[in-house]
Amino acid sequence: MMAGCDRIWQAARMAILLDPLLGAEGAESMLRVRDAFGPYGMYSNEGHDTGYAPELPQRIDAIRNHLRHGNGEPVGTVAARTNYFRETYAYGDEITAPGIEPFLHHEGLAAAARSIHGRELVVPAIVFANLYLPGQELAIHTDVPEFRGANRTVTPQWLVVAMHHSGLFDRWRMPIATGVSFFGPGESGALVTYPEGPDGPRVEVAPRHDTALVLDTDTVFHGVDRVAGDDTAIRSARPGMRLHPGARWQLRDGDAVVAEIDPASIRFSVSWKGYCFVDDADRRRWAEHGDDLTLDRILDTIEADLRSREVLRTDRPAPAEFGLAIVDTYTRFPG
Ligand SMILES: [Fe+2]
Repeated sequence: MMAGCDRIWQAARMAILLDPLLGAEGAESMLRVRDAFGPYGMYSNEGHDTGYAPELPQRIDAIRNHLRHGNGEPVGTVAARTNYFRETYAYGDEITAPGIEPFLHHEGLAAAARSIHGRELVVPAIVFANLYLPGQELAIHTDVPEFRGANRTVTPQWLVVAMHHSGLFDRWRMPIATGVSFFGPGESGALVTYPEGPDGPRVEVAPRHDTALVLDTDTVFHGVDRVAGDDTAIRSARPGMRLHPGARWQLRDGDAVVAEIDPASIRFSVSWKGYCFVDDADRRRWAEHGDDLTLDRILDTIEADLRSREVLRTDRPAPAEFGLAIVDTYTRFPG
């Protein structure tokens, strides 16, 4: 294994389980926040036009790996299974789901983030809800990390992911801790993780009410096992449909009700992400953009590394081909 990757995996071995997370009253209020928000949209491919190699889907890395392990289902069904529902509850100080504040500022989540990255200054960045209907699942992946000058808004997601796995850009990386919390009665749809790296064992965490697992999801490969139950609704799901809370939740296509779902069968998790700074000077460096990467520098650095590994022996190929070489070299999946 490459030296850079070894270093990353050593830093990522820790995952911290918070049980209970909020206590009975706090956990119930999370379900009220869930029900008062909505409707929930699908997490289709996010549309940032990042310019480089536009012919490659943003998560070509995870898609290729998922299809390698596919069971021959039609592409539309595979897409509906993985196109879960997601909405943002808080973004920085901006609250879009009133009542989420105690979760956003939860001291246990911040303390776990501090110990995972060994960094003192943790700033909550985002809180978002994930809802999976019976039959839905999430392919194994690592999250899109952030670097000074490179993130999902300006850089293709597959490239930001590969940058992290390469270990070539550690100096610019913003370590992020993610708390994945669970609320509600359903316990299917395990969070699947590989905490010791792609060669290590698969560890499953059941989504138990009022618990959270805090880990470095930018480094640790993870996914969601298929949620049990009647998957009729998902077989009718198409991009753009929305999920409306109620006594029976409704999947709607515009105003038309496509399916009704028992809320107890829906897997509900809330993700918290915190930026982990060394100190205030580190935070200022991030905010002031004084030492940002550029796309040219990223690609030149990677090209030099690929040449030293003798993966690349010719001129740099066209972006899409170069992109696939980058993904295949650095983003090595479990199994
Ligand atoms: Fe993830």
